[in-house]
Amino acid sequence: MLNKPFGKYFGSIRTRMVLIYLAVTVFTMVATSVVVSAIMGDFLVSQRTKTQLKETSQLALEITPELLSGNSEQLFSFITARAQTMGGRVLVLDTDAVVQADSASQQNGYWLPYREVRDILTGGAETSYGFHRIVRTMEDFGILGTSDEQVWAVYYTAPITVSGVYKGVILFSALIQDVQNSVSDVIGKIVMVFVAVAVITAAISFMLSGWLTKPVVELTGAIRRMGTKGYGVRVDVKGGGEMAELGNAFNRMSERIEEHDKVRDEFIANASHELKTPLSSMKLLSESILYQNEPDPAIMKEFFQDVNHEVDRLSNIITDLLRLVQDDAERSELDREPTRLDTLVLRTVNRLRPLASKKGILLQVRTEPVVVPVEPMRIEQVVTNLVENAIKYTDAGSVIVHVSQEQTDAVFSVKDTGIGIPQEALLHLFERFYRVDKARSRGTGGTGLGLAIANKIVTMHGGYIEVESVLGKGSVFTVRLPFAPICDDEARREKRQ
Ligand SMILES: Nc1ncnc2c1ncn2[C@@H]1O[C@H](COP(=O)(O)OP(=O)(O)O)[C@@H](O)[C@H]1O
Ligand SMILES: [Mg+2]
Repeated sequence: MLNKPFGKYFGSIRTRMVLIYLAVTVFTMVATSVVVSAIMGDFLVSQRTKTQLKETSQLALEITPELLSGNSEQLFSFITARAQTMGGRVLVLDTDAVVQADSASQQNGYWLPYREVRDILTGGAETSYGFHRIVRTMEDFGILGTSDEQVWAVYYTAPITVSGVYKGVILFSALIQDVQNSVSDVIGKIVMVFVAVAVITAAISFMLSGWLTKPVVELTGAIRRMGTKGYGVRVDVKGGGEMAELGNAFNRMSERIEEHDKVRDEFIANASHELKTPLSSMKLLSESILYQNEPDPAIMKEFFQDVNHEVDRLSNIITDLLRLVQDDAERSELDREPTRLDTLVLRTVNRLRPLASKKGILLQVRTEPVVVPVEPMRIEQVVTNLVENAIKYTDAGSVIVHVSQEQTDAVFSVKDTGIGIPQEALLHLFERFYRVDKARSRGTGGTGLGLAIANKIVTMHGGYIEVESVLGKGSVFTVRLPFAPICDDEARREKRQ
């Protein structure tokens, strides 16, 4: 991580994008200019040498009669004229590479064993040429220079022959510096264009990155607002692509949080209300005893019985609430063990038998041996809740509990011939504190939490509960528990939603 303030700038997507664009542009341009100038230089130089080499060969042919004439003055004026038209310096060398005539009259009598000269005299070449770094002076080539400078020149040679016999060598030298200069000129112009392009690229990528990072900036703002406000924050999603997806994901998350918040508030309100109800009746009862001067012992007893009943209710609600909260906290930590579901159900039902016989309800169990990996204590809780409900909400008739196994699930169902549940209530049945008939439920000591707890336990096991009910006829609650629960129960729950 970079430190501030550098980190602030180089960490930003915007700066990074500008830098990346700039780097790519500069690299491309440098590569292009190197290649272009190399190709251009090669082309110009080869054009030039080709022409001048041809001119040199031509001169070698034309000079023969002049050389044979033996008139050195005539020879000199001939080569000076040609040097001028050809734009260089012409030297005539004998077969020993000694200068016989020089259009610049500087090197008469000099021995010039250049490679190009040797190529002709000893190598037998038709023509030859080579590049030389030379010092240019005022007199050289008849060009006026202000001072000595190092320049590039090309030396061309061609043999002077008379009927196949070597008489000497023509050495023509010309500057090639102007070609180099024009290549550097072009490079200079390319660089200027490139600098302009780089500046434009930087500007465009700066604007472009602003446009690209805008959603991120907006999202950051939204997240910050959510941090202070809590919820109700949404981002405006436009278009498609990854950024829109990110925005949508954020909105969904925000929605979920809001929903969660609402459910929690509702839960607290409901819980407080449920806790308050028994407390209010207790207060009422105790006050009525308190304000009686000489309370009748029989009435006293009845009142205390009522108070006792309310205390039980309060205790039930608190037990259930604790159970719910506990399941919330320990969501994924189930103590599974291979359990005989049939024996578990039978044991639980037998415990509830007195309740049924008190109401004159027939309680039947039909089982087959089923082993399923569950936490027995918790599944017992589910069975208790469902069978208790069946007995509670049945006035006459029977309750039949069934344990069986299907391909992937262990199944147990509780069927009653009770009051049934209205269709519209089925949707809310598993909500906390939901009761179809509050008065009846309360009268029987219900808290409205039983099914919520049962549902939670079953989903924790990777299973689910189904309800079928006909009002006035009865209900069937069916619980399915998978033999091979997906390891992550959470994942399965998500999938079912
Ligand atoms: N077997 C059933 N027959 C009819 N109604 C039922 C049955 N089981 C549950 N209910 C309805 O669902 C409501 C929620 O059940 P539950 O969560 O166990 O709460 P309670 O504490 O009231 O039993 C009950 O109040 C009742 O109205
Ligand atoms: Mg119940």
